[in-house]
Amino acid sequence: MADYQNLLIQEEDGILTIIINREDKLNALNLATVEEIRNIFQRVYDEKEIKGVILTGAGEKAFVAGADISEISELNEMNARKFAENGQEVFSLIENCHKPVIAAVNGYALGGGCELAMACHIRVATKNAKFAQPEVNLGIIPGYGGTQRLTQLVGKGKALELMMTADMIGAEEARALGLVNHVVEDREALTSRTREMLEKIMGKAPLAVGMIVNCVNAYFSGDENGYQTEANSFSNCCKSEDFKEGTAAFLEKRPAEFKGE
Ligand code: COA
Repeated sequence: MADYQNLLIQEEDGILTIIINREDKLNALNLATVEEIRNIFQRVYDEKEIKGVILTGAGEKAFVAGADISEISELNEMNARKFAENGQEVFSLIENCHKPVIAAVNGYALGGGCELAMACHIRVATKNAKFAQPEVNLGIIPGYGGTQRLTQLVGKGKALELMMTADMIGAEEARALGLVNHVVEDREALTSRTREMLEKIMGKAPLAVGMIVNCVNAYFSGDENGYQTEANSFSNCCKSEDFKEGTAAFLEKRPAEFKGE
């Protein structure tokens, strides 16, 4: 396995847990960390043994408190576009992953941290988690996909408000807005709830799960017709072994055993 300086990686029962591990900087995303996330997601795409991913932050205080401001402060007009495009590319890898990815948000999810959580398929947060896109305080805007994904998740009016005011909201408010799927009491409950949810999804037909990701993302893609993507994917499902197994298992009144084929 590659040697990661800024991530802790745990692998158990097909679940890969990625822990952003810069606790002294509240897990702020420097460029090295973003590259390590790219690298680990390439493994998630390639390795059959990995069936699902949990993404979380080290420690009790933060999921990720943003992109690393010491690096941001050095940006100029020339390299800032590349900086944003690079982060967008890595976060798109997460969003488009054909295996389920759940963000376990354990504290501050600010700026790039909120954007990272939003790139995951599902978000579960502890009740002390806090969300914000505070970039306007620094004279910038979200650059890792936040203007797009926040709008998709909470709608235009609230997204504009959150980004223009930089207001920090708690987990319950984030849940009410649709930014967070579930809120749990503490870290222990966060671990068990995300694991339970991931195991449930991992018990479903893997190809179908991946195609759902693809079809839902097609809704937001400017150049795809989502209905066509859905019909094509539906047709592709029907040539899979898992389709034969799923329907046969139902008719034979037994649990299905999917192989992802
Ligand atoms: N980039 C770089 N370093 C960061 C950081 C970030 N986004 N967020 C926190 N840190 C660092 C702090 O500089 C500090 O480092 P130091 O001990 O070497 O001085 C350390 O993490 C702890 O943060 P601190 O500010 O002392 O903790 P706090 O409990 O007083 O405040 C926050 C917590 C999250 C409210 C505060 O750190 C903060 O506002 N962070 C920036 C959030 C932000 O604007 N993110 C968007 C960036 S685009």
